[in-house]
Amino acid sequence: MSRDLPVNLEINGAAVALEVPLTETLLATLRERLQLTGAKRGCNQGVCGACTVTLDGVAVRACLSLTLNCEGQKVATIEGVAADPLIEALQQAFVDGGALQCGFCTPGQLIAARALLSQNSDPSVEEVQQGLSGNLCRCTGYRKIIDAVLSAARSMRK
Ligand code: FES
Ligand code: FES
Repeated sequence: MSRDLPVNLEINGAAVALEVPLTETLLATLRERLQLTGAKRGCNQGVCGACTVTLDGVAVRACLSLTLNCEGQKVATIEGVAADPLIEALQQAFVDGGALQCGFCTPGQLIAARALLSQNSDPSVEEVQQGLSGNLCRCTGYRKIIDAVLSAARSMRK
């Protein structure tokens, strides 16, 4: 039986000290220990992107990230960025453009799009496709999602 080990993270701006097993994923820590359920468990094997969060600003799959490996890093989940102007612009563009249906993939799409637009305020269609290439959606097709990200980028540049 493995023993728990200490880890210190900053999650949505708050310092969090935990003791977790070596094999615990960041997704399990967020959802099951901290009740931050915005990051979704879809495939749980790194394929769908529903679990996307950022680590020090970089979009990662929480289901593939071991919590202990995140020592000292800043984790942002959809709950923690709700008031971020970029997320607000993306959410509005998703709603206006019909870029979500069931919504299961949406938190991951928004986090990935935020990470992209944080680095590139005027992405091309291809850059948006690349930035969201790890985020699957079973409902919308991808055209409306890409258009919504481009629309949010335009609104942020005004
Ligand atoms: S749940 Fe993590 S990539 Fe699908
Ligand atoms: S809106 Fe349903 S999976 Fe994307």
